[in-house]
Amino acid sequence: MGAIRTIGVANGGGDAPGLNAVIRGVVKSAIGRFGWRVIGIRNGFDSLIWPETCLPLTWNSVSGILPRGGTILGTTNRGNPFAYHQTVGGREVIQDFSARCLENARSIGLDALVVIGGDGTQSIARDFFRLGLPVVGVPKTIDNDLSATEVTFGFDTALHIVTEAIDRLHTTAESHHRVMLIEVMGRDAGWIALHSGIAGGADIILIPEIPFTFESIARAIARREEAGKNFSLIVVAEVVKLPEKDPLGKPIPPPQPGSVANTIAFSLREMLQKELRVTVLGHVQRGGSPSPYDRILATRFGVAASELVSRGEFGRMVCLRAGEITSVPIEDAVAHLKLVDPGSEIVRTARSVGISFGDEQ
Ligand code: F6P
Repeated sequence: MGAIRTIGVANGGGDAPGLNAVIRGVVKSAIGRFGWRVIGIRNGFDSLIWPETCLPLTWNSVSGILPRGGTILGTTNRGNPFAYHQTVGGREVIQDFSARCLENARSIGLDALVVIGGDGTQSIARDFFRLGLPVVGVPKTIDNDLSATEVTFGFDTALHIVTEAIDRLHTTAESHHRVMLIEVMGRDAGWIALHSGIAGGADIILIPEIPFTFESIARAIARREEAGKNFSLIVVAEVVKLPEKDPLGKPIPPPQPGSVANTIAFSLREMLQKELRVTVLGHVQRGGSPSPYDRILATRFGVAASELVSRGEFGRMVCLRAGEITSVPIEDAVAHLKLVDPGSEIVRTARSVGISFGDEQ
Protein backbone atom coordinates (compact mmCIF):
# COMPACT_ATOMS: atom_id res chain seq x y z
CA MET A 1 0.00 0.00 0.00
CA GLY A 2 1.19 3.54 -0.82
CA ALA A 3 1.86 6.45 1.54
CA ILE A 4 -1.04 7.68 3.64
CA ARG A 5 -2.33 11.08 2.57
CA THR A 6 -5.95 11.15 3.74
CA ILE A 7 -7.76 9.34 6.52
CA GLY A 8 -11.42 9.27 7.54
CA VAL A 9 -12.90 9.22 11.06
CA ALA A 10 -16.30 7.68 11.72
CA ASN A 11 -18.27 6.95 14.89
CA GLY A 12 -21.36 4.80 15.22
CA GLY A 13 -23.86 3.56 17.81
CA GLY A 14 -24.87 5.42 20.96
CA ASP A 15 -22.74 8.41 21.91
CA ALA A 16 -20.40 8.30 24.91
CA PRO A 17 -18.64 11.11 26.77
CA GLY A 18 -15.13 11.32 25.30
CA LEU A 19 -16.07 10.78 21.64
CA ASN A 20 -15.01 14.31 20.73
CA ALA A 21 -11.77 13.83 22.64
CA VAL A 22 -10.99 10.75 20.50
CA ILE A 23 -11.80 12.64 17.29
CA ARG A 24 -9.54 15.49 18.44
CA GLY A 25 -6.75 13.02 19.30
CA VAL A 26 -6.96 11.39 15.85
CA VAL A 27 -7.16 14.70 13.97
CA LYS A 28 -4.41 16.55 15.85
CA SER A 29 -1.95 13.65 15.64
CA ALA A 30 -2.86 12.95 12.00
CA ILE A 31 -2.29 16.56 10.98
CA GLY A 32 0.42 17.61 13.45
CA ARG A 33 2.58 14.48 13.51
CA PHE A 34 1.91 12.75 10.24
CA GLY A 35 0.83 15.57 7.91
CA TRP A 36 -2.34 13.81 6.72
CA ARG A 37 -5.67 15.28 5.67
CA VAL A 38 -8.67 14.16 7.75
CA ILE A 39 -12.27 13.73 6.63
CA GLY A 40 -15.11 13.32 9.13
CA ILE A 41 -17.71 10.69 8.22
CA ARG A 42 -21.03 11.90 9.57
CA ASN A 43 -23.76 9.92 11.36
CA GLY A 44 -22.25 6.46 11.55
CA PHE A 45 -21.13 5.54 8.02
CA ASP A 46 -23.69 7.77 6.27
CA SER A 47 -21.10 10.02 4.57
CA LEU A 48 -19.69 6.94 2.83
CA ILE A 49 -23.15 6.41 1.32
CA TRP A 50 -23.71 10.13 0.64
CA PRO A 51 -20.15 11.58 0.32
CA GLU A 52 -21.42 15.14 -0.16
CA THR A 53 -22.12 15.11 3.62
CA CYS A 54 -18.44 14.56 4.56
CA LEU A 55 -17.00 17.04 7.06
CA PRO A 56 -13.39 18.12 6.49
CA LEU A 57 -11.63 18.13 9.87
CA THR A 58 -8.87 20.65 10.49
CA TRP A 59 -6.77 21.53 13.53
CA ASN A 60 -9.13 24.47 14.10
CA SER A 61 -12.33 22.49 13.71
CA VAL A 62 -11.37 20.16 16.59
CA SER A 63 -10.01 22.93 18.79
CA GLY A 64 -12.15 23.36 21.91
CA ILE A 65 -14.08 20.07 21.60
CA LEU A 66 -12.12 18.14 24.28
CA PRO A 67 -14.59 18.85 27.13
CA ARG A 68 -17.72 18.64 24.96
CA GLY A 69 -20.16 15.75 25.31
CA GLY A 70 -21.78 14.08 22.29
CA THR A 71 -19.96 13.97 18.96
CA ILE A 72 -19.35 16.66 16.35
CA LEU A 73 -19.88 13.97 13.69
CA GLY A 74 -23.39 13.04 14.80
CA THR A 75 -24.17 9.36 15.26
CA THR A 76 -26.84 6.71 14.78
CA ASN A 77 -27.45 3.15 15.83
CA ARG A 78 -29.56 2.47 12.73
CA GLY A 79 -26.86 3.10 10.14
CA ASN A 80 -25.37 -0.30 9.27
CA PRO A 81 -24.40 0.10 5.56
CA PHE A 82 -24.60 -3.69 5.10
CA ALA A 83 -28.30 -3.64 6.07
CA TYR A 84 -29.46 -0.03 5.92
CA HIS A 85 -33.02 0.63 7.08
CA GLN A 86 -34.96 3.37 5.30
CA THR A 87 -38.61 4.23 5.06
CA VAL A 88 -39.60 4.56 1.40
CA GLY A 89 -43.22 5.40 0.56
CA GLY A 90 -44.30 4.44 4.10
CA ARG A 91 -42.59 1.02 3.86
CA GLU A 92 -39.37 -0.04 5.56
CA VAL A 93 -36.76 -1.21 3.07
CA ILE A 94 -33.38 -2.70 3.92
CA GLN A 95 -30.49 -2.16 1.50
CA ASP A 96 -26.87 -3.25 1.30
CA PHE A 97 -24.79 -0.12 0.62
CA SER A 98 -21.40 -1.70 1.37
CA ALA A 99 -20.14 -1.72 -2.25
CA ARG A 100 -21.22 1.91 -2.67
CA CYS A 101 -19.31 2.81 0.55
CA LEU A 102 -16.12 1.18 -0.73
CA GLU A 103 -16.45 2.99 -4.05
CA ASN A 104 -17.03 6.33 -2.29
CA ALA A 105 -14.14 5.74 0.12
CA ARG A 106 -11.92 5.41 -2.97
CA SER A 107 -13.46 8.41 -4.74
CA ILE A 108 -12.94 10.75 -1.76
CA GLY A 109 -9.37 9.47 -1.47
CA LEU A 110 -9.49 7.66 1.89
CA ASP A 111 -6.29 5.71 2.50
CA ALA A 112 -7.57 4.51 5.89
CA LEU A 113 -10.61 4.81 8.13
CA VAL A 114 -10.64 5.12 11.94
CA VAL A 115 -13.87 3.65 13.31
CA ILE A 116 -14.91 4.57 16.86
CA GLY A 117 -17.64 2.37 18.27
CA GLY A 118 -18.91 -0.49 20.42
CA ASP A 119 -19.39 -4.12 19.40
CA GLY A 120 -22.02 -3.37 16.71
CA THR A 121 -19.96 -0.65 15.02
CA GLN A 122 -16.72 -2.66 15.31
CA SER A 123 -18.46 -5.61 13.63
CA ILE A 124 -19.24 -3.29 10.70
CA ALA A 125 -15.57 -2.14 10.71
CA ARG A 126 -14.48 -5.79 10.60
CA ASP A 127 -16.80 -6.48 7.65
CA PHE A 128 -15.40 -3.47 5.75
CA PHE A 129 -11.86 -4.66 6.54
CA ARG A 130 -12.73 -8.09 5.13
CA LEU A 131 -13.80 -6.32 1.92
CA GLY A 132 -10.42 -4.58 1.70
CA LEU A 133 -10.97 -1.21 3.43
CA PRO A 134 -7.94 -0.33 5.62
CA VAL A 135 -9.65 0.15 8.97
CA VAL A 136 -8.52 0.65 12.58
CA GLY A 137 -10.92 0.58 15.53
CA VAL A 138 -11.34 2.55 18.76
CA PRO A 139 -13.54 0.95 21.46
CA LYS A 140 -16.41 3.09 22.75
CA THR A 141 -19.30 2.43 25.11
CA ILE A 142 -20.44 3.58 28.52
CA ASP A 143 -21.37 -0.07 29.17
CA ASN A 144 -17.68 -1.18 29.40
CA ASP A 145 -18.63 -4.55 27.94
CA LEU A 146 -15.91 -4.95 25.30
CA SER A 147 -13.73 -7.91 26.24
CA ALA A 148 -10.59 -6.69 24.44
CA THR A 149 -10.08 -3.63 26.62
CA GLU A 150 -9.98 -3.19 30.38
CA VAL A 151 -11.92 0.04 30.11
CA THR A 152 -13.82 1.94 27.42
CA PHE A 153 -14.02 5.73 27.55
CA GLY A 154 -17.40 7.00 28.73
CA PHE A 155 -17.68 4.41 31.49
CA ASP A 156 -15.94 6.56 34.11
CA THR A 157 -18.15 9.58 33.32
CA ALA A 158 -21.29 7.43 33.52
CA LEU A 159 -20.11 6.15 36.92
CA HIS A 160 -19.68 9.69 38.20
CA ILE A 161 -23.21 10.60 37.10
CA VAL A 162 -24.80 7.47 38.59
CA THR A 163 -22.82 7.67 41.83
CA GLU A 164 -23.89 11.27 42.33
CA ALA A 165 -27.51 10.25 41.71
CA ILE A 166 -27.22 7.42 44.28
CA ASP A 167 -25.74 9.85 46.83
CA ARG A 168 -28.66 12.20 46.28
CA LEU A 169 -31.23 9.40 46.53
CA HIS A 170 -29.61 8.23 49.77
CA THR A 171 -30.42 11.40 51.66
CA THR A 172 -34.05 11.52 50.57
CA ALA A 173 -34.49 7.74 51.11
CA GLU A 174 -33.17 8.09 54.64
CA SER A 175 -35.38 11.08 55.47
CA HIS A 176 -38.55 9.37 54.24
CA HIS A 177 -37.69 5.82 55.39
CA ARG A 178 -38.22 4.59 51.86
CA VAL A 179 -36.89 1.91 49.57
CA MET A 180 -35.47 3.62 46.49
CA LEU A 181 -34.80 1.81 43.23
CA ILE A 182 -32.52 3.36 40.63
CA GLU A 183 -32.38 1.86 37.14
CA VAL A 184 -29.11 2.32 35.26
CA MET A 185 -27.87 1.51 31.75
CA GLY A 186 -25.45 -1.22 30.70
CA ARG A 187 -27.34 -3.31 28.17
CA ASP A 188 -26.42 -6.99 28.67
CA ALA A 189 -23.71 -6.27 31.25
CA GLY A 190 -23.92 -5.19 34.89
CA TRP A 191 -20.74 -3.10 35.03
CA ILE A 192 -22.36 0.30 35.54
CA ALA A 193 -24.72 -1.07 38.21
CA LEU A 194 -21.96 -2.98 40.00
CA HIS A 195 -19.36 -0.20 40.08
CA SER A 196 -21.77 2.65 40.84
CA GLY A 197 -23.51 0.51 43.44
CA ILE A 198 -20.22 -0.05 45.26
CA ALA A 199 -19.17 3.59 44.85
CA GLY A 200 -22.54 4.84 46.07
CA GLY A 201 -22.86 2.40 48.97
CA ALA A 202 -25.99 0.70 47.60
CA ASP A 203 -27.64 -1.96 49.77
CA ILE A 204 -28.75 -4.20 46.91
CA ILE A 205 -27.39 -4.45 43.35
CA LEU A 206 -29.31 -6.38 40.71
CA ILE A 207 -27.32 -7.30 37.59
CA PRO A 208 -28.11 -9.57 34.62
CA GLU A 209 -25.24 -11.92 35.49
CA ILE A 210 -26.71 -12.86 38.91
CA PRO A 211 -30.34 -14.09 39.00
CA PHE A 212 -32.29 -12.70 41.97
CA THR A 213 -35.47 -13.56 43.86
CA PHE A 214 -37.97 -11.16 45.43
CA GLU A 215 -37.76 -13.15 48.67
CA SER A 216 -34.01 -12.60 48.90
CA ILE A 217 -34.44 -8.84 48.37
CA ALA A 218 -37.13 -8.76 51.08
CA ARG A 219 -34.83 -10.62 53.48
CA ALA A 220 -31.95 -8.19 52.80
CA ILE A 221 -34.24 -5.24 53.54
CA ALA A 222 -35.59 -6.94 56.68
CA ARG A 223 -32.02 -7.50 57.91
CA ARG A 224 -31.33 -3.79 57.48
CA GLU A 225 -34.49 -2.89 59.38
CA GLU A 226 -33.45 -5.19 62.24
CA ALA A 227 -30.16 -3.29 62.33
CA GLY A 228 -32.07 -0.01 62.64
CA LYS A 229 -31.77 1.09 59.00
CA ASN A 230 -35.29 1.76 57.82
CA PHE A 231 -34.39 2.81 54.30
CA SER A 232 -32.68 0.95 51.46
CA LEU A 233 -31.18 1.68 48.07
CA ILE A 234 -31.44 -0.80 45.21
CA VAL A 235 -29.43 -0.31 42.01
CA VAL A 236 -31.06 -2.14 39.10
CA ALA A 237 -29.29 -2.83 35.79
CA GLU A 238 -31.66 -2.16 32.90
CA VAL A 239 -31.71 -5.69 31.50
CA VAL A 240 -31.59 -7.61 34.76
CA LYS A 241 -33.26 -11.02 34.39
CA LEU A 242 -36.58 -11.01 36.21
CA PRO A 243 -37.99 -14.04 38.01
CA GLU A 244 -40.70 -15.73 35.90
CA LYS A 245 -43.40 -15.08 38.50
CA ASP A 246 -44.15 -12.25 40.91
CA PRO A 247 -44.50 -12.93 44.69
CA LEU A 248 -48.21 -13.72 44.17
CA GLY A 249 -47.37 -16.34 41.53
CA LYS A 250 -48.52 -14.26 38.55
CA PRO A 251 -46.30 -14.40 35.41
CA ILE A 252 -44.21 -11.25 34.87
CA PRO A 253 -44.36 -9.96 31.27
CA PRO A 254 -40.89 -9.25 29.78
CA PRO A 255 -40.12 -5.60 30.57
CA GLN A 256 -38.17 -3.18 28.36
CA PRO A 257 -35.14 -1.16 29.53
CA GLY A 258 -36.63 1.87 31.26
CA SER A 259 -39.42 -0.13 32.91
CA VAL A 260 -37.44 -2.85 34.71
CA ALA A 261 -37.09 -1.07 38.06
CA ASN A 262 -40.79 -0.14 37.95
CA THR A 263 -41.72 -3.78 37.31
CA ILE A 264 -39.59 -4.89 40.26
CA ALA A 265 -41.02 -2.15 42.48
CA PHE A 266 -44.55 -3.21 41.56
CA SER A 267 -43.86 -6.72 42.83
CA LEU A 268 -41.92 -5.63 45.90
CA ARG A 269 -44.51 -3.09 47.09
CA GLU A 270 -46.94 -5.82 48.17
CA MET A 271 -44.26 -7.84 49.90
CA LEU A 272 -42.51 -5.11 51.83
CA GLN A 273 -45.41 -2.95 52.90
CA LYS A 274 -43.05 0.00 52.60
CA GLU A 275 -43.00 3.14 50.53
CA LEU A 276 -41.04 2.58 47.34
CA ARG A 277 -39.88 5.10 44.73
CA VAL A 278 -38.24 4.52 41.37
CA THR A 279 -35.73 6.66 39.46
CA VAL A 280 -34.81 5.75 35.89
CA LEU A 281 -31.63 7.65 35.03
CA GLY A 282 -31.71 6.96 31.29
CA HIS A 283 -29.69 9.03 28.83
CA VAL A 284 -28.47 11.47 31.48
CA GLN A 285 -25.78 8.80 31.96
CA ARG A 286 -24.43 9.42 28.45
CA GLY A 287 -24.73 13.18 28.21
CA GLY A 288 -22.47 16.07 29.10
CA SER A 289 -18.80 16.62 29.62
CA PRO A 290 -16.40 13.65 29.97
CA SER A 291 -14.48 13.13 33.22
CA PRO A 292 -10.72 13.85 33.25
CA TYR A 293 -10.06 10.07 33.16
CA ASP A 294 -12.21 9.67 30.03
CA ARG A 295 -10.64 12.71 28.34
CA ILE A 296 -7.17 11.25 28.87
CA LEU A 297 -8.13 7.69 27.82
CA ALA A 298 -9.97 9.01 24.75
CA THR A 299 -6.98 11.17 23.76
CA ARG A 300 -4.61 8.19 24.16
CA PHE A 301 -6.95 5.98 22.08
CA GLY A 302 -7.23 8.64 19.34
CA VAL A 303 -3.47 9.14 19.06
CA ALA A 304 -2.87 5.36 19.19
CA ALA A 305 -5.35 4.91 16.30
CA SER A 306 -3.32 7.35 14.15
CA GLU A 307 -0.16 5.47 15.12
CA LEU A 308 -1.71 2.14 14.01
CA VAL A 309 -2.57 3.74 10.66
CA SER A 310 0.99 5.11 10.31
CA ARG A 311 2.39 1.59 10.85
CA GLY A 312 -0.12 0.06 8.43
CA GLU A 313 -1.56 -2.15 11.17
CA PHE A 314 -5.08 -2.40 9.79
CA GLY A 315 -7.92 -4.59 11.02
CA ARG A 316 -6.83 -3.86 14.60
CA MET A 317 -8.54 -2.03 17.47
CA VAL A 318 -6.68 -0.01 20.10
CA CYS A 319 -7.26 -1.11 23.68
CA LEU A 320 -6.05 -0.68 27.27
CA ARG A 321 -4.31 -3.60 28.97
CA ALA A 322 -2.48 -3.39 32.31
CA GLY A 323 -2.53 0.39 31.99
CA GLU A 324 -0.80 0.37 28.59
CA ILE A 325 -2.31 1.22 25.23
CA THR A 326 -1.96 -1.68 22.80
CA SER A 327 -4.10 -3.25 20.06
CA VAL A 328 -5.94 -6.46 19.15
CA PRO A 329 -7.48 -7.78 15.92
CA ILE A 330 -11.00 -6.31 15.57
CA GLU A 331 -12.09 -9.87 14.76
CA ASP A 332 -11.15 -10.96 18.32
CA ALA A 333 -12.48 -7.77 19.90
CA VAL A 334 -16.06 -8.46 18.78
CA ALA A 335 -16.00 -12.21 19.44
CA HIS A 336 -17.64 -12.01 22.85
CA LEU A 337 -18.92 -9.48 25.36
CA LYS A 338 -17.23 -8.86 28.71
CA LEU A 339 -19.73 -9.70 31.43
CA VAL A 340 -19.43 -9.55 35.21
CA ASP A 341 -18.09 -12.81 36.64
CA PRO A 342 -20.30 -13.62 39.66
CA GLY A 343 -17.29 -15.28 41.34
CA SER A 344 -14.92 -12.34 40.78
CA GLU A 345 -13.04 -10.38 43.42
CA ILE A 346 -15.16 -7.25 42.87
CA VAL A 347 -18.43 -9.13 43.46
CA ARG A 348 -16.85 -10.76 46.54
CA THR A 349 -15.76 -7.33 47.75
CA ALA A 350 -19.29 -5.99 47.38
CA ARG A 351 -20.73 -8.95 49.29
CA SER A 352 -18.05 -8.52 51.99
CA VAL A 353 -19.28 -5.00 52.76
CA GLY A 354 -22.85 -6.25 53.08
CA ILE A 355 -24.21 -5.56 49.59
CA SER A 356 -26.85 -8.09 48.53
CA PHE A 357 -27.25 -9.29 44.94
CA GLY A 358 -30.72 -10.59 45.65
CA ASP A 359 -29.52 -14.19 45.42
CA GLU A 360 -28.70 -14.98 49.06
CA GLN A 361 -30.80 -17.53 50.96
O1 F6P B 1 -24.79 0.91 24.66
C1 F6P B 1 -24.95 2.15 25.27
C2 F6P B 1 -26.36 2.33 25.74
O2 F6P B 1 -26.45 3.58 26.40
C3 F6P B 1 -26.89 1.21 26.62
O3 F6P B 1 -26.45 1.31 27.95
C4 F6P B 1 -28.38 1.41 26.45
O4 F6P B 1 -29.07 0.20 26.65
C5 F6P B 1 -28.50 1.83 25.02
O5 F6P B 1 -27.26 2.37 24.65
C6 F6P B 1 -29.59 2.85 24.78
O6 F6P B 1 -29.67 3.07 23.42
P1 F6P B 1 -30.54 4.23 22.77
O7 F6P B 1 -29.73 5.49 22.84
O8 F6P B 1 -30.77 3.77 21.39
O9 F6P B 1 -31.80 4.36 23.57
